Amino acid sequence: MATEPALSPLLDVQDLRITLADSQRALVRGISFQMQTECLALVGESGSGKSLTARALMGLLPAACRVSATHLSLGGQSLLGMSERRWSALRGQQVAMVLQDPKYALNPVLPIGVQVAEPLQLHSRLGRRERHEKMLHMLDAVGLPNVQQLQHAYPHQLSGGMGQRVMLAMALITEPRLLIADEPTSALDAVLREQVLQLMITLTREHHTGLLLISHDLPQVARYCQRVMVMYQGELVDERDAATLAHAEHPYTRTLWACRPGRHTHGQPLPVFQRPANEVVYE
Ligand SMILES: Nc1ncnc2c1ncn2[C@@H]1O[C@H](COP(=O)(O)OP(=O)(O)OP(=O)(O)O)[C@@H](O)[C@H]1O
Ligand SMILES: [Mg+2]
Repeated sequence: MATEPALSPLLDVQDLRITLADSQRALVRGISFQMQTECLALVGESGSGKSLTARALMGLLPAACRVSATHLSLGGQSLLGMSERRWSALRGQQVAMVLQDPKYALNPVLPIGVQVAEPLQLHSRLGRRERHEKMLHMLDAVGLPNVQQLQHAYPHQLSGGMGQRVMLAMALITEPRLLIADEPTSALDAVLREQVLQLMITLTREHHTGLLLISHDLPQVARYCQRVMVMYQGELVDERDAATLAHAEHPYTRTLWACRPGRHTHGQPLPVFQRPANEVVYE
């Protein structure tokens, strides 16, 4: 029987390292992973290097950081040694990002319709009218009401949940191959968190877009993602099916799972990870 050819990965990261240029301090210490068109979660305690990893994939690392890898590719295209001009083309067409708080990501003085359509102006050949139609379609697809009127609204007129939907519309309008969402729902209340994440999963699935979701909400990751990678002190220490997070063998993953606050832990101290005695802890 003929075997299926192996699918080439959507994202292929081998030995990614991020260091602080002046002190040579290693912030991300040689991580490797691949992803297909799937929902892959990246979890880990604060400061473990999740956002830096995400920013390296967007070519948006802070100036103080240096990046290296033996291989880094998206859709078969190498991301190593790209000029800023190629990065900005890639950010418009291939990879997009949704951040925690739309307040800081949206331009306060531009109507949201203009902002959502802007990536099309920069990265597509569509005419003005088609861009306008696609923008309205996208606002509608993310579940915003009365889009004909809403397109003229300014960011301060939106609630947090609506702002996150606008961000999602803007990120997906160019149909990128990869969407990186860095704690996209952590500023929202519990009901909105579920709604916005569910929408993100549905839309990325419909558009065949890979979703790399950075989150502190492990039960949510277990419910919605296929795989999860666990990061600790700049290294990937565990990788597993997200649905099995509650049964992890790795001691750090177990502590992360046990640390989630909830009704069952109300009034009780949360467990603390017993760090190895010889571990170097910065700051
Ligand atoms: N611009 C910078 N200059 C110096 N150090 C930085 C910079 N950005 C991040 N770091 C350091 O890199 C490490 C990883 O940071 P990162 O933002 O990736 O963590 P994170 O896992 O996203 O944490 P959180 O869950 O709090 O968002 C931290 O120790 C942080 O202090
Ligand atoms: Mg972060």
